[in-house]
Amino acid sequence: MDRFHIVGGSSLRGVVSVSGSKNAALPILFSSLLGGGMEVGNVPSLRDIRTAFSLLSQLGIRAQPLFQEEKGEVSEGPWTFSDTGNWPGKFFLSEENTTAHEAPYDLVRTMRASILCLGPLLARRRRARVSLPGGCLIGARPVDMHLNAFSRMGARISIDHGYIDANTDGLVGCDIHLPYPTVTGTENILMAATLAKGTTRIFNAAQEPEISDLAVCLNGRGARIEGIGTSSLKITGVDSLLPSSYGVMADRIEAGTFMVAGALLGDPLTVQNIDVTCLSSLLGTLRAMGADFEETPGSVTLARIRKPCGASVRTEPYPGFPTDMQAQILPLMSIAKGSSTVVETVFENRFTHVMEMNRMGANIDVHGSRAFVHGMSSLEGASVMASDLRASAGLVLAALIANGESEIQRVYHIDRGYERIERKLEKLGARIKRVRGEDVP
Ligand code: UD1
Repeated sequence: MDRFHIVGGSSLRGVVSVSGSKNAALPILFSSLLGGGMEVGNVPSLRDIRTAFSLLSQLGIRAQPLFQEEKGEVSEGPWTFSDTGNWPGKFFLSEENTTAHEAPYDLVRTMRASILCLGPLLARRRRARVSLPGGCLIGARPVDMHLNAFSRMGARISIDHGYIDANTDGLVGCDIHLPYPTVTGTENILMAATLAKGTTRIFNAAQEPEISDLAVCLNGRGARIEGIGTSSLKITGVDSLLPSSYGVMADRIEAGTFMVAGALLGDPLTVQNIDVTCLSSLLGTLRAMGADFEETPGSVTLARIRKPCGASVRTEPYPGFPTDMQAQILPLMSIAKGSSTVVETVFENRFTHVMEMNRMGANIDVHGSRAFVHGMSSLEGASVMASDLRASAGLVLAALIANGESEIQRVYHIDRGYERIERKLEKLGARIKRVRGEDVP
């Protein structure tokens, strides 16, 4: 298992360009199961994306890499998915086998978002057998809302030996009222409804920008989705989708992570290739903590906050403060003047990083879903363990401001969702090195 060796204290100066969004790319890639063929660009080179391609391959989707040549022409190259140094970023996905329908436990356990194949498989192939994702470190994470919606649309669903077994004679649109605006639940239903008979309306839909990205991509292929970006989506089913080309949006969580890095150590740091409007709640918090930044339509420039002050944050569905950013804001709160509070409302157990940050000298008390951060801590380098994707990003930021050396173990978590983060940070002036270990199965 690889680890990061970080020497804290260096300023971060320059420009960092944000990669394509993991959470937008995943549903868009799984939407290839709806048929029609599609070209997808700005696909980030990440562990989760490779898992998605493995699963899609088992489900009969051929992913052909497209390399941009100097003259602007696109051609196929001799390439495999393990070739990380030469990632094309663009793929043509087409159906080769339309009878495969099983998503095995081995793949689903490494990436919960594999559940996103369920809706498209049911809609197009009328049959799906998908391993139940099970719980994970940040909470139970059931998929009951996905399953209830598919039942209402006419799927017969049973749970058998840890697998969701579902089939249908054809999905039929209906009104779905979600008890909670689940992100992948909304995406799964949206994809299924695209090819269902009649009209589906999703009420209390999640409004995350990644859902809008998926919906715009689907409409470009002939789907009929209205209400994009709102909590009420109306989908009029169509018989089939058409071939099309789409570029995945930029990753707002990667952008947010670099923005916090800028607030901690920027001298100054420009985060570019982003949609600033997706980040307003984080920018509001950074402003409240004392950040001064310059915005353009595609970038934000921040300098280190000289005297950060404490803030209160409550994680919520979009457009609220993202749960995927709470681990990263904690190091800033730890060195701020006064105290701060984080209330986690999305996942029940998302403070596993706090113990590790406290080992680095932070002073954070967790009571249930609340973390109380006593500021003015001076962080010290330590050997710490990453426990999940965003927790690892929080630990990297803590190590960057700590005195002395830190070692972050199990960085395979961060490789799931950040494209070459150590190279991007190193280019900005951070002292960070990847120490190679054995591969994670
Ligand atoms: C997605 C994101 C993840 C982000 C999360 C919240 C992807 C691939 N992942 O995860 O990065 O942290 O949104 O913004 O896009 N729930 C149920 N039953 C369900 C579905 C969800 O009880 O059927 C609960 C979950 O346990 C959780 C809450 O609803 O407590 C939110 O989950 P959800 O929005 O579904 O998150 P994900 O889609 O898994």
